[in-house]
Amino acid sequence: MSAPSYAIDVRDLSKTLEGRLVVNHVDVRVQRGKIYGFLGPNGSGKTTTIRMLCGLLTPDAGEGTCLGLDLRKDLEQIRLKVGYMTQKFSFWEDLTIEENLNFVASVFGMDTPKERVRSCMERFNLAARAHQLAGALSGGWKQRLALAACVLHEPELLLLDEPTAGVDPKARKEFWDEIRALAARGLTVLVSTHYMDEAERCDQILYVAYGNIMAEGTVEEILQQSGFSSLEDSFIYYVNQAMENQP
Ligand SMILES: Nc1ncnc2c1ncn2[C@@H]1O[C@H](COP(=O)(O)OP(=O)(O)OP(=O)(O)O)[C@@H](O)[C@H]1O
Ligand SMILES: [Mg+2]
Repeated sequence: MSAPSYAIDVRDLSKTLEGRLVVNHVDVRVQRGKIYGFLGPNGSGKTTTIRMLCGLLTPDAGEGTCLGLDLRKDLEQIRLKVGYMTQKFSFWEDLTIEENLNFVASVFGMDTPKERVRSCMERFNLAARAHQLAGALSGGWKQRLALAACVLHEPELLLLDEPTAGVDPKARKEFWDEIRALAARGLTVLVSTHYMDEAERCDQILYVAYGNIMAEGTVEEILQQSGFSSLEDSFIYYVNQAMENQP
């Protein structure tokens, strides 16, 4: 059976949290091997959507597939094929880089964990810091560790939730070089961000506001659809439109 052309293909996804509809009948289609930027104001449902896509949260409504697997039935298999980088740093601060990666390798029950961890540290330039405590790392290195940990099990899809928030410009650029390199190797990436310069690095963009997808397409398509010459202006336009449509 050939792999489906969409890494993510979900329709009508909805979620209510504490009585509030935070994801409102959302359709998401993500082509394999591409980088998708997920942008929206605070509280617009990005993290909630991402958590539903990787099987950590059950949708109230909606259906579809992630890597050809059923979003409702194949949760365990989806988790093995998806790398999820959480919005908040979620590693053991009192363990070293190497110990954290060893722990992730053991959770996934990898066959050759030591080799995997070693080559992963080399791949992400973490080897020289292998024995540094995660809690003592700068923001940029923490995020690099988090990225290494989420690709350790060689996933096919990366869901990165604001991976560069609070990271300095040089480290952000280096992080994006890594994302590009991973996509060049065939990984599909959905990355949420509040940075417009990062949106411009994506193959496709999704704008979400108040739980609704407001626009999607390439940078050029979004600018054309909105009639603006800057992404920032187009983003503000769509967010204002979403506000006006709020009940
Ligand atoms: N576990 C939860 N219980 C109740 N409400 C929640 C929970 N998680 C999120 N929410 C609410 O759902 C809404 C959407 O939150 P979500 O975290 O998905 O937004 P976001 O787009 O990721 O925001 P940000 O840009 O700030 O990360 C927010 O109003 C938030 O307060
Ligand atoms: Mg979030």
